[in-house]
Amino acid sequence: MSSIYESEKLLAEYLLFHYATAEEILPPGRKWPADMAAALEFPCRTVAHFGKTQVARGLDLGCAVGRSSFEMTRHCDEVLGIDFSHAFIRAAEALRGGAVLAYHRLEEGTQRTELSATRPAGLDGQRLQFLQGDAMHLAADLGAFERVHAANLLCRLSEPQLLLERLPSLVKPGGELVLATPCTWLEEFTPPAHWPAQSTLAWLKAALNPSFSLENELDEPFLIRETARKFQWSTALVTVWKRRND
Ligand SMILES: C[S@@+](CC[C@H](N)C(=O)[O-])C[C@H]1O[C@@H](n2cnc3c(N)ncnc32)[C@H](O)[C@@H]1O
Repeated sequence: MSSIYESEKLLAEYLLFHYATAEEILPPGRKWPADMAAALEFPCRTVAHFGKTQVARGLDLGCAVGRSSFEMTRHCDEVLGIDFSHAFIRAAEALRGGAVLAYHRLEEGTQRTELSATRPAGLDGQRLQFLQGDAMHLAADLGAFERVHAANLLCRLSEPQLLLERLPSLVKPGGELVLATPCTWLEEFTPPAHWPAQSTLAWLKAALNPSFSLENELDEPFLIRETARKFQWSTALVTVWKRRND
């Protein structure tokens, strides 16, 4: 399994991606294309595809440094965020506890700007738990959830089919599932034998249709800043599913 998500570089990029203001990601003074600004706040926009009623339990798989998990607590009594990266979970847990996390934004070469991340305003993190764990081998006693979110995780798993097979038992009948993926299948994360044979959407439908109905399908762009002049702009395929009643 890749360890890039333990690196200081990725930790800083994800703290910026999840918690920075628009001005910290796209500093004033340069003419940024409108599509870049429209791609901000991805961790909030994927969660916004859940219903707005209050439910008991939410699960955020591949939660990274935790922004989507915080957002899920707005409409879930309890939320569990799980990620394989110890470094990401340590940061998420520190933010949950109220810490101010110092990190840097890389400008170029050795030039850095010091920034800090804090948990989102108005969310105290008391009903949120972060755990290091493997989304392909989740504990058998995790129970079931009304809402399950997995953003940009599937194409980072070595055996994504294992998670797809587990989803029917993780989502309660009538519950909601939001999956996002930019469909960037790469050998360094997933052996080609485990890539979808056709489109990712067709693969998801074949795997999930027996237990879930597809409620919505759309694109959500996202922007990850690497340096002052280098950004990754991607667009994720977002699918929203409802667990069928058995
Ligand atoms: C591309 S990032 C997406 C993170 C976050 N959901 C977002 O949208 O910003 C992929 C995340 O999946 C995590 N991850 C990779 N393999 C995992 C596994 N087997 N179980 C749980 N998390 C995993 C990584 O540590 C990383 O945080």
